[in-house]
Amino acid sequence: MMSSFSFRRSSFLLLSWVLLIPSLQVEALWWSNLDNKNESSEEVQQFDQPSSVKAQRTNHNNNPSLAFEYGVDVSFPMHHAPVSTNYAWLPHNQQPNAEIPDEYKDMPVQPLGDMQSKYENYIQGCVDYYNKDGKNKGERCVTTERDRLAMSLRQPQSMYNYTQMGYTKIRAPDHVFRLLKEFWEKNKHRETLERWAVGNVYTNHWESPSYMVSVENEALDGGGYVLKQHIWNAARDTIEEWTGYKQAECSLYGIRVYKEGAMLAPHVDRLPLVSSAIINVDQDVDEPWPLEVIGHDGIARNVTMEPGDLVLYESHSILHGRPFPLKGRFMANVFIHFEPTQKIGGESEYTGDLPPYLIPGSPEEARWRSSNPHGHKLLNQQQPGTTGSTTAHMLAARGQYEDLRQFLNENPDSVNARDKNDWMPLHEGIRKGDLDCVELLLDRGAEVNAVTPHGSPLYMAQTFHAGNKALQQLLESRGAKLHPPPSKGASEGEL
Ligand SMILES: *[C@@H]1O[C@H](CO)[C@@H](O)[C@H](O)[C@H]1NC(C)=O
Ligand SMILES: *[C@@H]1O[C@H](CO)[C@@H](O)[C@H](O)[C@H]1NC(C)=O
Ligand SMILES: *[C@@H]1O[C@H](CO)[C@@H](O)[C@H](O)[C@H]1NC(C)=O
Repeated sequence: MMSSFSFRRSSFLLLSWVLLIPSLQVEALWWSNLDNKNESSEEVQQFDQPSSVKAQRTNHNNNPSLAFEYGVDVSFPMHHAPVSTNYAWLPHNQQPNAEIPDEYKDMPVQPLGDMQSKYENYIQGCVDYYNKDGKNKGERCVTTERDRLAMSLRQPQSMYNYTQMGYTKIRAPDHVFRLLKEFWEKNKHRETLERWAVGNVYTNHWESPSYMVSVENEALDGGGYVLKQHIWNAARDTIEEWTGYKQAECSLYGIRVYKEGAMLAPHVDRLPLVSSAIINVDQDVDEPWPLEVIGHDGIARNVTMEPGDLVLYESHSILHGRPFPLKGRFMANVFIHFEPTQKIGGESEYTGDLPPYLIPGSPEEARWRSSNPHGHKLLNQQQPGTTGSTTAHMLAARGQYEDLRQFLNENPDSVNARDKNDWMPLHEGIRKGDLDCVELLLDRGAEVNAVTPHGSPLYMAQTFHAGNKALQQLLESRGAKLHPPPSKGASEGEL
């Protein structure tokens, strides 16, 4: 009993402690975001929006039913746990001149009731689920939760934004929606359970599993690379028009189907997923299931979608999630991700060392550089250096975690596929230095000591990323041994 991990008792304090410490500076930001309602303040970049998009924009600002406006950490923790407990009904919030007790001075008003208990239940659900089989992996939930919050705090402030508000809702262009709808109608009965990494807290899959109809799956009617490219091409114009900049495709994995009770913890997407679209393909709901976004003005808004609606959002800097459980049978949507190829104000193709959307000197810069030692290159121009590669090799080589996870769900055997140089996806992930992809591959059964002409995985980690101790520790914790190349010099030139 003692060894099993209880989130509520021990870790919650630990978690709040760890999360609250690093950010006196950000503590101030959480308020200023809310106070800053002046849209033309210099915090928000000004860019002209094409008028057709502007005209269709939903007016979120004149909603009289909004008694309180709120920002981060009210519906769900985003920058810090716990969420605000400064309830609207507390006496100091009821009387205009009342003294505000010290403990509430830095908390936004909480109009949604006891969200903290709901949050604790959410994380506890994950912990209990992963402790259930006696393997005591529940603490992984707390680790990934800590990462989610740290990233939600660090990444947005480190990003350039291409639009003023950061999100908008339009109708999907007919030809885009038709492609998706046709594919969905033919294949919706063939949804497959979506697998998540141990301890992943992004969806409450322990309570309400999600399903996937992958557009890339050749086994599905009409599925495959051609369909994927069609959807991408069809969506690109819309994204380019909205942002005003050229865009390159990053990621598109399929139609995710959420079921009754599903939630999605607010988050920002991993780079280079920057300019994104969600399309509601189909749903059977009792009431609209809101997507909550925090705009560049710092204010939370519920965006509701009907089938055929398309939400454009800057997913690298706009916190987005579904903190209220789905009421109904299902909601099916697709995510389409691009990255801008130009710097804001830049006329031509960008050739800098950092991605054009990453602010030099920001907290994200150092982290990005350590996982991208060779500098910036558009995702769709990064070629894996080996031949005979499978899709899994390519995705691991590029560090496309989400796509790799989806691909392995559909093709579990490809985890140990070898290319002509004897490399497996694991070796590609190590060369890229992508901790998440490497861990995912190991979780899915990659052989941790599979030797290539360049040595064992641990040897390669030391060769390519001598400074990346986390990568080496991860491998060692899975039993990795240091094996140098069998005969030196065999294929030195192939890298
Ligand atoms: C909003 O910002 C602009 C530009 O900084 C300034 O001129 C204007 O006075 C501000 N308005 C308010 C209401 O603060
Ligand atoms: C971009 O948006 C994020 C989130 O709204 C914000 O924190 C950040 O400061 C913005 N970047 C710039 C350069 O204004
Ligand atoms: C968003 O939706 C939830 C659930 O319906 C509701 O409780 C909350 O007040 C809404 N928030 C806003 C900002 O409209």
